[in-house]
Amino acid sequence: MNITNKTVLITGANRGIGQALVNEALRRGAKRVYAGTRSPVPNADKRVKPMTLDVTSVSQIERAAREVDTLDVLINNAGVAIYDDLTNLDAIEQHLAVNLFGAFKVTRAFLPLLRRSKGAIVNNLSLAALAPLPIIPAYSISKAAAFNMTQSLRAFLAGDGVTVHAVLLGPIDTDMTRGFEVPKASPESAAQGIFDGLEKGEEDIFPDPASRPVAEGWRTGVVKALERQFSAFVPQSAANLG
Ligand SMILES: NC(=O)c1ccc[n+]([C@@H]2O[C@H](COP(=O)([O-])OP(=O)(O)OC[C@H]3O[C@@H](n4cnc5c(N)ncnc54)[C@H](OP(=O)(O)O)[C@@H]3O)[C@@H](O)[C@H]2O)c1
Repeated sequence: MNITNKTVLITGANRGIGQALVNEALRRGAKRVYAGTRSPVPNADKRVKPMTLDVTSVSQIERAAREVDTLDVLINNAGVAIYDDLTNLDAIEQHLAVNLFGAFKVTRAFLPLLRRSKGAIVNNLSLAALAPLPIIPAYSISKAAAFNMTQSLRAFLAGDGVTVHAVLLGPIDTDMTRGFEVPKASPESAAQGIFDGLEKGEEDIFPDPASRPVAEGWRTGVVKALERQFSAFVPQSAANLG
């Protein structure tokens, strides 16, 4: 999907990759960008509409959905990553609340608009969705679960013309990776790679130098083949999702 003249909503838009996605959407000629943040952040560009949106707050999600009348692209970007060692159940719950349930609830709320526009859902995930990173196992669990959810939504919504994309990011230089000393790509280049992948219609987007080498093996691998095979079994009740 081409971004020019489109309406885009990005969660976690105040810093890191989310902020870079806002700027990149504007650079590509988006008509309107809803910038979802926990505290309002003004933007000089008139096309940006700041929106208070904590993805764990049902009331804020419902209010945000009422504020938007048309939407082409939803980018579930908001996320948390906390170092842990699986000894604390709270850490798993915290990650699931934002990275899985947050993205799911926001998606459901905006689904009627996305169905109407035959739009796109872009879920910012991680290579840790494919293989756990043992310094952040709870985060990895949440991203694996969010990837699986992404695959189900892709199957559910294909008949409605809504495309659902997974972004399998490698390390990007943001607050989230502060202290993790590995080569990192810039948030700006990640945002470009994400929109490039969306414009090319890639289901699974590998937008940075660390993730790109995985792309071909993933797309031609047995797991992807199974996803395609299983996607035939969509229940009629999938229409009730939103
Ligand atoms: N950086 C990486 O290497 C990397 C790699 C793979 C995947 N990712 C994914 O990319 C996405 C963006 O990460 P980032 O690197 O830009 O991280 P970041 O700089 O830490 O930014 C995280 C963003 O998520 C927001 N957020 C956190 N909890 C929220 C909530 N409950 N409701 C709404 N917004 C919330 C934050 O808002 P506040 O400012 O209010 O906290 C912030 O805007 C995440 O989903 C992350 O998992 C990042």
